[in-house]
Amino acid sequence: MPHIPVLQREIIECLKPGKDENFIDCTMGDGGHAQLILEKNAPKGKVLGIDWDEENIIRLKERFKKEISEKRVILVNDNFANLKEIKERENFQEVSGIMLDLGMSSRHLESKRGFTFLRNEPLDMRFNSSIPITAAKILNFWSMVEIERILREYGEEKFSKKIAQEIVSQRNKKQIETTQDLIKILSRAIPKSIQRQKIHFATRTFQALRIAVNDELNNLQRALGQAFEILRPGGRLAVISFHSLEDGIVKNFFRDKVRENSLELITKKPIRPNQDEIKINPRSRSSRLRAAVRSISQTK
Ligand SMILES: C[S@@+](CC[C@H](N)C(=O)[O-])C[C@H]1O[C@@H](n2cnc3c(N)ncnc32)[C@H](O)[C@@H]1O
Repeated sequence: MPHIPVLQREIIECLKPGKDENFIDCTMGDGGHAQLILEKNAPKGKVLGIDWDEENIIRLKERFKKEISEKRVILVNDNFANLKEIKERENFQEVSGIMLDLGMSSRHLESKRGFTFLRNEPLDMRFNSSIPITAAKILNFWSMVEIERILREYGEEKFSKKIAQEIVSQRNKKQIETTQDLIKILSRAIPKSIQRQKIHFATRTFQALRIAVNDELNNLQRALGQAFEILRPGGRLAVISFHSLEDGIVKNFFRDKVRENSLELITKKPIRPNQDEIKINPRSRSSRLRAAVRSISQTK
């Protein structure tokens, strides 16, 4: 199923793509947001589209065949943590706006790489096949202390200690290989009353493992600094995050740059989806959009 882009109208209002302006979409996914930009920056504006996932790039090449031939879309399969290098390598000039729509896409849930607890799949969770660790490697080889830390920090999981103990005790008997192996462990470690709650009890552990495997918070931190550097004065940066750890990084980055008079906020408070959007697309529930504009007076 194609990915439904969140906060579509809101992100376009923040980025304000104008005729013939150039934009970078650091997280192309299925290209939904990029398509909206391309409608606004026609006829000559370009989008440099990055995605770490090889399978997404293959799909995007098909979707944007025409725009690629017109040189309006340039696709790059890379980590957005290498943003500045990518921009220089592609000789992409006059960047009027940069967007990031973080995390995974609906395509990942169908990728059979262990992103979902709703099916039994190998515990991989890598966005890109060159990443050296998988979720299974973390569960089978990392120390109990390290596993506990990522569950607590990246999953904000209250039962991190009990889960980490249960993981280590189980792996001493048999390696943890599939999503079902992990669910069984979680159902032993997490109290039954919590297991009956609306949000699935595996959600936090899966989130924590995905963040750790893909080093998501470090990548975001690295990308923000570079995005700021390569924006033209007056250029706009918009970020959609899906949990408080990501949002905290974006919020602090913007705050520091505002203090230096290098950025001006477009969103004083994060923009959240309205009830209509949440009804149509429940995944949008936790999304938060922050945006800022690079100050004109600052020079690079
Ligand atoms: C929420 S989806 C983006 C959806 C997109 N805005 C759309 O309209 O279809 C996030 C995408 O970012 C990609 N991604 C995650 N981390 C990345 C990274 N460090 N570098 C590049 N792409 C990344 C994922 O592969 C995924 O396709």
